[in-house]
Amino acid sequence: MRVAIIGTGYVGLTTGVCLAYIGHSVSCLDTDVSKVKMLSEGKVPIFEPYLEELLEEARPNLHFTSSYEEAIPDAEVVFIAVGTPPTPSGAPNLEYLSQAAKSVGQHVKNKFTVVVNKSTVPIGSGNWVGALLRNTYEQRSANGTLEAAVASNPEFLREGSALHDSLYPDRIVIGADEPRALEVLYSLYRPILDQTFTPPTFLPRPESVGAVPLLSTDLASAELIKYAANAFLALKISFINEIGMLAERVGADIAEVGRGIGLDSRIGPRFLNAGIGWGGSCFGKDTAALIATAEEYGLHMPIVEAARVVNKRQRDRIVEKLLTELKILKGRTIGLLGLAFKPNTDDLREAPAVEIAQKLIDRGVCVKAHDPIAGERFQQDYGHMGVQLCKNAQEVAENCDAVVLVTEWNEYRDLEWEKLGRSMRQALILDGRHILDREKLEKAGFQFIGIN
Ligand code: UGA
Repeated sequence: MRVAIIGTGYVGLTTGVCLAYIGHSVSCLDTDVSKVKMLSEGKVPIFEPYLEELLEEARPNLHFTSSYEEAIPDAEVVFIAVGTPPTPSGAPNLEYLSQAAKSVGQHVKNKFTVVVNKSTVPIGSGNWVGALLRNTYEQRSANGTLEAAVASNPEFLREGSALHDSLYPDRIVIGADEPRALEVLYSLYRPILDQTFTPPTFLPRPESVGAVPLLSTDLASAELIKYAANAFLALKISFINEIGMLAERVGADIAEVGRGIGLDSRIGPRFLNAGIGWGGSCFGKDTAALIATAEEYGLHMPIVEAARVVNKRQRDRIVEKLLTELKILKGRTIGLLGLAFKPNTDDLREAPAVEIAQKLIDRGVCVKAHDPIAGERFQQDYGHMGVQLCKNAQEVAENCDAVVLVTEWNEYRDLEWEKLGRSMRQALILDGRHILDREKLEKAGFQFIGIN
């Protein structure tokens, strides 16, 4: 099928590359000309494992452009995957979405086209996009009414495993009030639903993956599913962190408690890793948007609100713990291992490391840091903070009064701890992610603090 994708961020680019890989003809559109140039040369502007390799394989089916005139008229399906960044009130900024919808309305032909909201958009946006499309189309055209339908197809990919999540998803959700739109999207996704495509050599199909469930709903339900899924995952993490605080007081091991409850198939083991809490561009933004939407209907969401409060507290606790151990923070040097909001990405949006670094700097601490991938991006976006970037963990540790493990990159699991400890002023380590072996670290001469 002929597909256009508006926006080449994580979601748009991954979707475009995967759809091209399974055989569709895809035009990826972005108004950022430099990004389009990079992508046309086969270079990917974000760090996402295997994305560059898959783009190379899918290249014969891919076209990158900044022109709506090039991308839209022939497309049977148009995905809108533009950013919806948060505003101070918590409600997302819908300016890019509105611009994209109007531009599609200006260029779409009078043939049946499915316009799909792939961005995470507030409930009701499907109707709104439909109205913008129709109004723009009717203003420019004397051809009568527009032959288009709007669908919602929320994205559930995680950064760092975006391709895996797109090719082998747990489910595909399609919300559409018009049955024809559902049929078109069913055909589009069929190779993924039936798992009939040949897997890329670098991303083999896991044995457990069979046919992928398709959930077809009305527009509003699909939109709410996206918010509810992210809110639930966020509150699962906050729940284990809240239990973690009690575990610390009563002398229980939160990792064991997480395993113990996760083995109950009604609860499930995932997203029960206690630690610094969630970061990234999604959980914070989407929980705030859910609360803002509920407020529009006169409703409160105390559970979702509490999840946000607990998450914020986890970051404060890092500084409190350092304060308790070191007594005076002013004049100290503290090292951070990891800057990205999670491993396998260079994304720093709402990264706990950035907030923790700022809190420490505000207290007069000299902060050093390392990240295997996100260092360069950190320098670009947060160079003004004055964090000293280091080449590796060893360099971070040198002359530090404490080191905090913030992001659980694999390479931090097994460091030369004795050497590291010897080069510190004080061998104090705070494991913010529950990945280090306390016994081993203590044997290597460290004073070890966990977060829960
Ligand atoms: C999240 C969702 O998992 C995706 O399904 C969704 O599509 C995406 O948001 C989105 O809305 O775009 P993502 O933010 O990429 O994906 O990353 P996650 O793997 O969910 O991690 C989010 C944060 O939670 C990270 O900071 C991670 O360190 C933290 N986390 C995760 C924990 O603290 N504990 C856990 O057990 C799991």
